[in-house]
Amino acid sequence: MKQLADRHRGSRRNSRAGRLIGTVTTALALTLGPLGAAGFAQESGSDVQAKLDNPYEGAQLYVNPDWSAKAAAEPGGDAVADEGTGVWLDRIAAIEGNAEAMGLREHLDTALQQADGKPIAVQLVIYDLPGRDCAALASNGELEPEEIGRYKNDYINPIRDILREYSSRSNLRVVTTIEPDSLPNLVTNTSGRPTATPECDEMKRNGNYVEGVGYALAQLGAIDNVYNYVDAGHHGWLGWDSNLQPAADVMFDAANAAGATPADVHGFIVNTANYSALKEENFSLTDSVNGQPVRQSKWVDWNQYLDELSFAQGFRQAAVSAGFPSDIGMLIDTSRNGWGGSERPTGPGPRTSVDAYVDGGRYDRRIHLGNWCNQAGAGLGERPQASPAAGIDAYVWMKPPGESDGSSTEIPNDEDKGFDRMCDPTYQGNARNGYNPSGALPDAPISGKWFPAQFQQLLKNAHPPVS
Ligand code: GLC
Repeated sequence: MKQLADRHRGSRRNSRAGRLIGTVTTALALTLGPLGAAGFAQESGSDVQAKLDNPYEGAQLYVNPDWSAKAAAEPGGDAVADEGTGVWLDRIAAIEGNAEAMGLREHLDTALQQADGKPIAVQLVIYDLPGRDCAALASNGELEPEEIGRYKNDYINPIRDILREYSSRSNLRVVTTIEPDSLPNLVTNTSGRPTATPECDEMKRNGNYVEGVGYALAQLGAIDNVYNYVDAGHHGWLGWDSNLQPAADVMFDAANAAGATPADVHGFIVNTANYSALKEENFSLTDSVNGQPVRQSKWVDWNQYLDELSFAQGFRQAAVSAGFPSDIGMLIDTSRNGWGGSERPTGPGPRTSVDAYVDGGRYDRRIHLGNWCNQAGAGLGERPQASPAAGIDAYVWMKPPGESDGSSTEIPNDEDKGFDRMCDPTYQGNARNGYNPSGALPDAPISGKWFPAQFQQLLKNAHPPVS
């Protein structure tokens, strides 16, 4: 059957039951009512697809040959080299590509070849906001805080124009992760918080994160086969009550900025490039030890969530409360949150104290939840999969495993990447990680570069294990 257009923005929202259904045909039948016969007939000659409720359902994932080749070249790496990973458009030049890295058009053409006519999802990461990475240095970007004009004209518009060329490919679904870390930073790392930085204060003052995210959402969301997922941090960042709803509210502001509407947001992604465990199974929020609740332990520190699955579901509710449609879906980046290997606890910790209980049982073996750079002991997490749990569109590998989070010493580079001491294994920390050691692996290259020792560790500590 010919696939039909559903250009009526937001009509997907009327198809709540569609979340359970994998095929375009059925989802369309359900949107027919609200869309109306006239709209249907009008579009019936075109060859574009309706926005699906879950773009991952029934689709294979695009395997990025650049990443895949690096993974396959590592001993044992061929076991995972055919997984789909995110393509990070982390600078203007990445859109065109160069001799070492494919450009956007080449990725899309290669995806269509891989698909051979069947549904395929290409996962892009939109990551070049002005004043990027305002609370850290390792992923500072090329655009100055005021360069919102260049962001729109030289970054988003060219991406939009290329994606438009592919909008009628009915088997192609383009998933976009929108700007990791930016909006969460506006909530937790600005004035009034002990973790504030002048750089994040400036981005709050000039409004360019909100404006940029809104612009990206509006321009990309208007394309029939593009699905925007806005980055929503992770439970160790936004899981506290004081952060959760304010973050959802800022995202709603962005979804109404620069021409965007909430219907341009298909959902949210959590744990992007982070290490937070998917499910902590050896203790729960309602447990207490010697009369002390788990929330009081040093590790949990009064957080409302213990892991990413419960956080993703909780954030989804907060987003709906903020005004987003009730059928939004969540993605969880499980690329590096496996925490398997010989150190993985096999049961709860001792009930001698609440700290011993939590620390002895937790899978996430970071020194502190605020540690984010090249974490020692981490492993690959759940392999990418569609519809793994209620409210979750997919587990994804948005951060390509084996790519560094930042250099462990200062390394001069032409990508405007800074040296963040959170990537230095000798660093004793700052307010954002409770003044704890960084837990980072030594000898790391700058962010985004291939880091063989990290890849080997991720493979070794994979959970589920890699066969
Ligand atoms: C980091 C880098 C970026 C890279 C991405 C994926 O955030 O800053 O350049 O593409 O990670 O590895």
